[in-house]
Amino acid sequence: MNRHYSHADNLIHQFDTVLRTLVPHAAVASRPTPATAGIQDEDMSAEERRHAAGLMRVNHTGEVCAQALYQGQGCTAKLPEVRSQMEHSAQEEIDHLAWCDERLQELDSHTSLLNPLFYAASFGLGAVAGAIGDRISLGFVAATEEQVGKHLEDHLVKLPAGDHRSRAVLRQMAIDEAHHAQLALEAGGARFPAPVKFGMSLMSKVMTKSVYRV
Ligand SMILES: [Fe+2]
Ligand SMILES: [Fe+2]
Repeated sequence: MNRHYSHADNLIHQFDTVLRTLVPHAAVASRPTPATAGIQDEDMSAEERRHAAGLMRVNHTGEVCAQALYQGQGCTAKLPEVRSQMEHSAQEEIDHLAWCDERLQELDSHTSLLNPLFYAASFGLGAVAGAIGDRISLGFVAATEEQVGKHLEDHLVKLPAGDHRSRAVLRQMAIDEAHHAQLALEAGGARFPAPVKFGMSLMSKVMTKSVYRV
């Protein structure tokens, strides 16, 4: 059945996405967490758990940014095919969001207080990129996904040795992000030049440093 969505429907849907992204524990995953019951942590000190939580908080905020980027881009993207292709990736980002949130709860910690700020910034960047054109906005998605992939590899090394449950989550996320980057490039995304990528990595450093603690 085809349903016609009015502007009001769309607005409600957008608002719903914002709430699901920003309200702690509101995101519902479509796939079960990769940290299955069979995967158990080894003993970790209080300091190690705090460190793991700091890293998982950064990953959670990265997913908030991804969600906002896809949403911003969806608002201004020109080609409907691009939009529907990216919706699948955006759904997987909701899984990542929910898995990181769950893991933070297991570590007796919380998502970042700065998330609304990063959501707004990423939404704006996504919308601007989408307005410039699909090639640029898909290129932006690809470059972002590659950046997230590098973060994940780095965090897989930095996590406490005994933290097997966070590792299980990050490993599946890394597989998904590589796929998202590939999809965006296949859909016609531009490869960004090195200076743009450098600017993006500076921005992500700011995010990483602040969110690890707050
Ligand atoms: Fe993700
Ligand atoms: Fe992704």
